[in-house]
Amino acid sequence: MNIIVTGGAGFIGSNFVFHMLDKHPDYRIVCLDKLTYAGNLSTLKSVMDNPNFRFVKADICDRDAVFALFEEEKPDIVVNFAAESHVDRSIEDPGIFLKTNILGTQTLMDACRKYGIQRYHQVSTDEVYGDLPLDRPDLFFTEETPIHTSSPYSSSKAGADLLVLAYHRTFGLPVTISRCSNNYGPYHFPEKLIPLMIANALNDKPLPVYGKGENVRDWLYVEDHCKAIDLIIHNGKVGEVYNIGGHNEMANIDIVKIICKELNKPESLITYVADRKGHDMRYAIDPTKIHNELGWLPETKFADGIKKTIQWYLDNKDWWEEIISGEYQNYYDKMYSNR
Ligand code: NAD
Ligand code: TYD
Repeated sequence: MNIIVTGGAGFIGSNFVFHMLDKHPDYRIVCLDKLTYAGNLSTLKSVMDNPNFRFVKADICDRDAVFALFEEEKPDIVVNFAAESHVDRSIEDPGIFLKTNILGTQTLMDACRKYGIQRYHQVSTDEVYGDLPLDRPDLFFTEETPIHTSSPYSSSKAGADLLVLAYHRTFGLPVTISRCSNNYGPYHFPEKLIPLMIANALNDKPLPVYGKGENVRDWLYVEDHCKAIDLIIHNGKVGEVYNIGGHNEMANIDIVKIICKELNKPESLITYVADRKGHDMRYAIDPTKIHNELGWLPETKFADGIKKTIQWYLDNKDWWEEIISGEYQNYYDKMYSNR
């Protein structure tokens, strides 16, 4: 089996590359990644010399590069993680989100049509369903929940999902889509809530909580997401959407307090800052379909996963200190100073 994994130098994509090389030692994994600000070659250091792994630096929007790679590799499966992934950046500059997330998906699927493929898998997000109210804990996102997006990021992901389903219906492309809730774990880029709070707390810097910190996310350990995608590409039904999430809803403020406690840092570091524009209140996945059809269940409990994650950031300071010392500082100042 030859699998092209796009966006494999990012957070979830790299964890998926590690998972696949470990669980399927006879598979060839080809990582295609543009190495944007969010992609780090150092993340893939441990697999670079693996004879079953190849890294190719390219943009999923670059038709010539994508088609040349398909011509050369003749992949059986493509798993598309490549995306602009941060909501706050999409509010500042939506254009690149539409380009990479929608047109990049189109380019990959056009290559799949031309060269033939057993499966094209689109890694999507629960954010395509919009948000749920805080006072209706009985409501969850199912695969039937209407698409109803809030941010340029989620709109671009929803656009891509619709295009993927259209390529299935119109051209018969064998596709699957997964819509996962918020992930956490190793190699999470420090602009996102959990790694940002860990890095700031370790540096005794303010912990910027948007609004009142009441917004709820449904957190899943990244390895559980990777296992779900592995199941879907092997056993999932073509043309189907699978929600992935582990019924682990937490308010942002509670996560930040857990991080303070684990790192033995004072809660006085918590600083309430101006809310995100259009901020989604609550995400909550109903994972019944993937459980019933594919037998998937999350394995890592949040209490264990957050400890493992914090320990990883303590053990891998070089990785994130290098990231936050560069261009990231300009981003951070722009987003957080005087907020
Ligand atoms: P990330 O930002 O950490 O990584 C994205 C990767 O894609 C980077 O390596 C980057 O270099 C690469 N990339 C960006 N534009 C590219 C382009 N034009 N061509 C080739 N490569 C490009 O993102 P992530 O958090 O790992 O998310 C991966 C996927 O999972 C995304 O599609 C995202 O929408 C989805 N998702 C993320 C979460 C989450 O909690 N992080 C939850 C559900 C779904
Ligand atoms: P984030 O990690 O950006 O993921 P998403 O917006 O895709 O869910 O943010 C998670 C939650 O944390 C979200 O409600 C916004 C909030 N948040 C903060 O309060 N402060 C921060 O500095 C960041 C990055 C996020």
